[in-house]
Amino acid sequence: MSINLSYFHVSSDVKTINPDIAVVIDVLRATTTISWALNNGADSIQVFSELDLLQKQASQWDVDKRLLLGERGGKKIDGFDLGNSPLSVTKEVVLGKRLFMSTTNGTKAFKKVQDISQLFSMALTNRKAVAEKIISLGDSDILILGSGWEGSYSLEDSLAAGSLASYLIKNCANTVNILNDELSAALALWEYWKGDILGCLKTATHGKRLTNIGNYEDDFNCCSQLDCLNIVPAQFEKGVIRTL
Ligand code: MLT
Repeated sequence: MSINLSYFHVSSDVKTINPDIAVVIDVLRATTTISWALNNGADSIQVFSELDLLQKQASQWDVDKRLLLGERGGKKIDGFDLGNSPLSVTKEVVLGKRLFMSTTNGTKAFKKVQDISQLFSMALTNRKAVAEKIISLGDSDILILGSGWEGSYSLEDSLAAGSLASYLIKNCANTVNILNDELSAALALWEYWKGDILGCLKTATHGKRLTNIGNYEDDFNCCSQLDCLNIVPAQFEKGVIRTL
Protein backbone atom coordinates (compact mmCIF):
# COMPACT_ATOMS: atom_id res chain seq x y z
CA MET A 1 0.00 0.00 0.00
CA SER A 2 1.85 3.11 -1.12
CA ILE A 3 1.80 6.46 -2.81
CA ASN A 4 4.79 7.04 -5.07
CA LEU A 5 5.70 10.67 -5.66
CA SER A 6 8.02 12.23 -8.25
CA TYR A 7 8.56 15.92 -8.96
CA PHE A 8 9.86 17.49 -12.16
CA HIS A 9 10.86 21.13 -12.35
CA VAL A 10 9.72 21.63 -15.95
CA SER A 11 7.96 19.73 -18.73
CA SER A 12 11.13 18.89 -20.65
CA ASP A 13 12.41 16.89 -17.64
CA VAL A 14 9.47 14.49 -17.96
CA LYS A 15 10.52 11.62 -20.22
CA THR A 16 8.63 8.33 -20.21
CA ILE A 17 6.77 8.34 -16.92
CA ASN A 18 3.12 7.32 -17.09
CA PRO A 19 1.59 8.04 -13.68
CA ASP A 20 -1.96 7.51 -12.43
CA ILE A 21 -2.20 11.14 -11.35
CA ALA A 22 -0.52 14.36 -12.47
CA VAL A 23 -0.49 17.56 -10.42
CA VAL A 24 0.45 20.79 -12.22
CA ILE A 25 1.81 23.69 -10.16
CA ASP A 26 2.33 27.33 -11.13
CA VAL A 27 2.25 29.29 -7.88
CA LEU A 28 3.15 32.61 -9.61
CA ARG A 29 0.46 32.72 -10.84
CA ALA A 30 -1.54 30.48 -13.18
CA THR A 31 -2.67 27.75 -10.80
CA THR A 32 -3.34 30.27 -8.03
CA THR A 33 -5.57 32.16 -10.46
CA ILE A 34 -7.30 28.91 -11.49
CA SER A 35 -8.05 28.07 -7.85
CA TRP A 36 -9.55 31.51 -7.21
CA ALA A 37 -11.52 31.61 -10.47
CA LEU A 38 -13.19 28.28 -9.67
CA ASN A 39 -13.74 29.30 -6.07
CA ASN A 40 -15.51 32.42 -7.34
CA GLY A 41 -17.86 30.48 -9.60
CA ALA A 42 -16.19 30.31 -13.01
CA ASP A 43 -17.78 27.49 -15.00
CA SER A 44 -14.46 26.18 -16.31
CA ILE A 45 -11.01 27.14 -17.49
CA GLN A 46 -9.71 26.00 -20.85
CA VAL A 47 -5.92 26.19 -21.03
CA PHE A 48 -3.91 26.83 -24.19
CA SER A 49 -0.26 27.18 -25.00
CA GLU A 50 -0.94 28.65 -28.47
CA LEU A 51 -2.82 31.92 -28.79
CA ASP A 52 -4.17 31.14 -32.29
CA LEU A 53 -5.96 28.08 -31.04
CA LEU A 54 -7.28 29.96 -28.01
CA GLN A 55 -8.77 32.70 -30.23
CA LYS A 56 -10.33 30.12 -32.53
CA GLN A 57 -11.97 28.13 -29.73
CA ALA A 58 -13.07 31.23 -27.83
CA SER A 59 -14.74 32.67 -30.95
CA GLN A 60 -17.07 29.65 -31.00
CA TRP A 61 -18.29 30.47 -27.49
CA ASP A 62 -21.12 32.87 -26.58
CA VAL A 63 -19.51 36.27 -26.03
CA ASP A 64 -21.41 36.84 -22.74
CA LYS A 65 -20.20 33.55 -21.34
CA ARG A 66 -16.50 33.76 -22.10
CA LEU A 67 -13.45 35.65 -20.91
CA LEU A 68 -10.00 35.70 -22.46
CA LEU A 69 -7.34 35.64 -19.79
CA GLY A 70 -3.58 35.51 -19.99
CA GLU A 71 -0.14 37.02 -19.90
CA ARG A 72 3.19 37.00 -21.63
CA GLY A 73 6.22 37.92 -19.55
CA GLY A 74 3.85 38.69 -16.65
CA LYS A 75 1.92 41.35 -18.61
CA LYS A 76 -1.68 41.12 -19.84
CA ILE A 77 -2.03 40.08 -23.49
CA ASP A 78 -3.32 42.92 -25.70
CA GLY A 79 -7.02 42.56 -26.45
CA PHE A 80 -7.62 40.06 -23.63
CA ASP A 81 -10.21 40.72 -20.91
CA LEU A 82 -7.92 39.90 -18.01
CA GLY A 83 -4.26 39.32 -17.23
CA ASN A 84 -3.20 36.52 -14.94
CA SER A 85 -3.84 38.02 -11.53
CA PRO A 86 -5.76 35.90 -9.01
CA LEU A 87 -7.23 39.18 -7.74
CA SER A 88 -8.91 39.89 -11.07
CA VAL A 89 -11.06 36.75 -11.14
CA THR A 90 -13.72 38.06 -8.76
CA LYS A 91 -17.21 36.58 -8.53
CA GLU A 92 -18.69 39.58 -10.37
CA VAL A 93 -16.32 39.01 -13.29
CA VAL A 94 -16.14 35.21 -13.67
CA LEU A 95 -19.42 33.74 -12.38
CA GLY A 96 -20.75 31.14 -14.83
CA LYS A 97 -18.12 31.90 -17.46
CA ARG A 98 -15.59 29.85 -19.32
CA LEU A 99 -12.12 31.33 -19.04
CA PHE A 100 -9.89 30.83 -22.09
CA MET A 101 -6.43 31.03 -20.58
CA SER A 102 -2.89 31.18 -21.90
CA THR A 103 0.19 31.97 -19.81
CA THR A 104 3.92 31.97 -20.47
CA ASN A 105 4.65 28.69 -18.69
CA GLY A 106 1.73 27.34 -16.66
CA THR A 107 -0.59 26.42 -19.50
CA LYS A 108 2.30 24.68 -21.32
CA ALA A 109 2.81 22.42 -18.31
CA PHE A 110 -0.85 21.34 -18.51
CA LYS A 111 -0.37 20.40 -22.14
CA LYS A 112 2.53 18.10 -21.27
CA VAL A 113 0.38 15.94 -18.98
CA GLN A 114 -3.05 16.32 -20.55
CA ASP A 115 -3.24 12.62 -21.44
CA ILE A 116 -2.89 11.48 -17.82
CA SER A 117 -6.29 10.20 -16.69
CA GLN A 118 -6.40 12.19 -13.45
CA LEU A 119 -4.99 15.70 -13.74
CA PHE A 120 -5.20 18.27 -10.96
CA SER A 121 -4.18 21.91 -10.76
CA MET A 122 -2.57 22.95 -7.49
CA ALA A 123 -1.23 26.12 -5.90
CA LEU A 124 -0.38 26.85 -2.28
CA THR A 125 -3.95 28.15 -1.86
CA ASN A 126 -5.51 24.73 -2.48
CA ARG A 127 -2.67 22.40 -1.45
CA LYS A 128 -4.62 20.68 1.34
CA ALA A 129 -7.71 20.16 -0.84
CA VAL A 130 -5.67 18.50 -3.61
CA ALA A 131 -3.68 16.45 -1.08
CA GLU A 132 -6.86 15.17 0.58
CA LYS A 133 -8.24 14.21 -2.84
CA ILE A 134 -5.04 12.28 -3.57
CA ILE A 135 -5.27 10.51 -0.21
CA SER A 136 -8.88 9.53 -0.96
CA LEU A 137 -7.78 7.87 -4.22
CA GLY A 138 -5.53 5.38 -2.38
CA ASP A 139 -2.43 3.78 -3.90
CA SER A 140 -1.08 5.67 -6.87
CA ASP A 141 1.94 6.86 -8.83
CA ILE A 142 1.89 10.64 -8.83
CA LEU A 143 3.80 13.02 -11.03
CA ILE A 144 4.09 16.57 -9.71
CA LEU A 145 5.02 19.00 -12.47
CA GLY A 146 6.25 22.55 -11.97
CA SER A 147 5.86 25.19 -14.64
CA GLY A 148 9.22 26.89 -14.17
CA TRP A 149 10.13 29.84 -16.34
CA GLU A 150 10.82 29.27 -20.03
CA GLY A 151 12.28 25.84 -19.41
CA SER A 152 14.19 26.50 -16.21
CA TYR A 153 13.73 25.83 -12.49
CA SER A 154 11.45 27.91 -10.33
CA LEU A 155 11.75 28.24 -6.58
CA GLU A 156 8.06 28.83 -5.85
CA ASP A 157 6.80 25.76 -7.73
CA SER A 158 9.38 23.62 -5.93
CA LEU A 159 8.24 25.09 -2.62
CA ALA A 160 4.66 24.03 -3.38
CA ALA A 161 5.77 20.56 -4.53
CA GLY A 162 7.57 20.16 -1.20
CA SER A 163 4.49 21.38 0.69
CA LEU A 164 2.34 18.74 -1.02
CA ALA A 165 4.81 15.94 -0.27
CA SER A 166 5.09 17.11 3.33
CA TYR A 167 1.29 17.09 3.77
CA LEU A 168 1.00 13.60 2.29
CA ILE A 169 3.82 12.19 4.45
CA LYS A 170 2.14 13.57 7.59
CA ASN A 171 -1.48 12.76 6.81
CA CYS A 172 -1.61 9.68 4.62
CA ALA A 173 -1.99 6.26 6.26
CA ASN A 174 -0.29 4.63 3.27
CA THR A 175 3.50 4.66 2.85
CA VAL A 176 4.62 7.70 0.86
CA ASN A 177 7.70 7.04 -1.27
CA ILE A 178 9.78 9.96 -2.52
CA LEU A 179 11.11 8.70 -5.84
CA ASN A 180 13.49 11.38 -7.03
CA ASP A 181 16.08 13.87 -5.80
CA GLU A 182 14.07 16.80 -7.13
CA LEU A 183 11.34 16.01 -4.61
CA SER A 184 13.77 15.42 -1.73
CA ALA A 185 15.22 18.85 -2.48
CA ALA A 186 11.70 20.36 -2.69
CA LEU A 187 10.88 18.90 0.73
CA ALA A 188 14.02 20.47 2.20
CA LEU A 189 13.07 23.77 0.56
CA TRP A 190 9.63 23.60 2.16
CA GLU A 191 11.14 22.93 5.60
CA TYR A 192 13.41 25.95 5.15
CA TRP A 193 10.79 28.45 3.91
CA LYS A 194 7.48 27.24 5.35
CA GLY A 195 7.52 29.96 8.02
CA ASP A 196 8.04 32.70 5.40
CA ILE A 197 6.22 31.71 2.23
CA LEU A 198 5.85 35.33 1.14
CA GLY A 199 9.60 35.82 1.51
CA CYS A 200 10.23 32.78 -0.67
CA LEU A 201 7.93 34.05 -3.43
CA LYS A 202 9.64 37.43 -3.43
CA THR A 203 13.09 35.80 -3.49
CA ALA A 204 12.16 33.71 -6.54
CA THR A 205 13.35 34.96 -9.92
CA HIS A 206 9.79 35.27 -11.19
CA GLY A 207 8.84 37.15 -8.02
CA LYS A 208 11.64 39.61 -8.79
CA ARG A 209 10.49 39.80 -12.41
CA LEU A 210 6.98 40.77 -11.30
CA THR A 211 8.36 43.29 -8.79
CA ASN A 212 10.35 44.89 -11.62
CA ILE A 213 7.34 45.36 -13.89
CA GLY A 214 4.83 46.74 -11.36
CA ASN A 215 3.23 46.65 -7.94
CA TYR A 216 2.32 43.01 -7.40
CA GLU A 217 2.22 43.16 -3.60
CA ASP A 218 -1.42 42.00 -3.43
CA ASP A 219 -0.70 39.16 -5.87
CA PHE A 220 2.20 38.00 -3.71
CA ASN A 221 0.00 38.07 -0.61
CA CYS A 222 -2.73 36.13 -2.38
CA CYS A 223 -0.38 33.53 -3.90
CA SER A 224 1.33 32.89 -0.55
CA GLN A 225 -1.86 31.97 1.38
CA LEU A 226 -1.57 28.30 2.29
CA ASP A 227 -4.66 26.03 2.27
CA CYS A 228 -7.18 28.88 2.13
CA LEU A 229 -9.38 27.35 -0.62
CA ASN A 230 -11.20 24.04 -0.53
CA ILE A 231 -11.08 23.63 -4.30
CA VAL A 232 -9.86 20.67 -6.37
CA PRO A 233 -9.49 21.80 -10.01
CA ALA A 234 -9.46 18.74 -12.24
CA GLN A 235 -9.27 18.17 -16.00
CA PHE A 236 -12.67 16.98 -17.30
CA GLU A 237 -11.93 16.94 -20.98
CA LYS A 238 -8.61 17.66 -22.65
CA GLY A 239 -7.51 21.14 -21.58
CA VAL A 240 -10.73 21.92 -19.69
CA ILE A 241 -10.51 22.31 -15.92
CA ARG A 242 -13.48 22.33 -13.54
CA THR A 243 -14.04 21.86 -9.82
CA LEU A 244 -14.50 18.31 -8.63
C1 MLT B 1 3.27 31.66 -16.13
O1 MLT B 1 2.48 30.86 -16.66
O2 MLT B 1 4.43 31.74 -16.47
C2 MLT B 1 2.86 32.56 -14.99
O3 MLT B 1 1.61 32.29 -14.56
C3 MLT B 1 3.24 33.97 -15.24
C4 MLT B 1 2.57 35.03 -14.40
O4 MLT B 1 1.52 35.54 -14.80
O5 MLT B 1 3.04 35.40 -13.34
